[in-house]
Amino acid sequence: MKQYYIAGNWKMHRTIAESVELAKELVAKLEGSSSKIMIAPAFTSLAAVATVLKGSNVLLGAQNMGPEEQGAHTGEISPAMLKDAGVSVVILGHSERRHSYLETDELINKKLLLALKHGLEPILCVGETLAEREGGNLESVVRTQVVEGLKGVAETELAKVIIAYEPVWAIGTGKTATPEDADAVHAYIRRVLKELYSEKSAVAMTIQYGGSVKPENAAELMAKANIDGALVGGASLKAESFVPIVNFYK
Ligand code: 13P
Repeated sequence: MKQYYIAGNWKMHRTIAESVELAKELVAKLEGSSSKIMIAPAFTSLAAVATVLKGSNVLLGAQNMGPEEQGAHTGEISPAMLKDAGVSVVILGHSERRHSYLETDELINKKLLLALKHGLEPILCVGETLAEREGGNLESVVRTQVVEGLKGVAETELAKVIIAYEPVWAIGTGKTATPEDADAVHAYIRRVLKELYSEKSAVAMTIQYGGSVKPENAAELMAKANIDGALVGGASLKAESFVPIVNFYK
């Protein structure tokens, strides 16, 4: 069985104490899992959660990162600061960043290149809105986000990048793309990667699905050939729902 990569995006939830408690529970319950696992708490909880995760099989991720090394950038967090807090993975271009905070492909690309430069593993999020899907623009939207997001990434560096396909209409809505729909978009992303790089790199890319992933639908999504993992929002906030998703194969 391939190794699946299950990540939890905690978004703007949990105090430091609550984050530590949840992280402790996850570490205890996920020991020995064969999945690759990451959790991304809020910035304020990163350092405390890093202490809990030390020596465990759970990686620490951040939900965003500033596009600069350092300097006069009020409110931003640099890659070095994330690493200092114990972070090894960073989620970039989440649809909530794209839509609520108007992040452009250009900005996301800048962050991605900076993350790679600092040895952080970027998870590049892509996905269409309902209007874009219904307007027949799914492929062009996803293509642009992949092509522009990866601009300047050499093929040797590509292996360090993860892509997460998160259809915007499926995030936090309880609506999941059918496993067939998600698989088809993942296959399309691989076609784009093949054009940009090579068949080998396209096949090797880890592509997570995100959008209302739950214990009830995780196994059928993961059963699809082109789905290599999940980026989980709401269901990652409780061990009782995140643990069965990580261990969907059991
Ligand atoms: P939900 O699992 O809550 O739909 O969120 C998905 C997501 O946005 C993960 O990044």
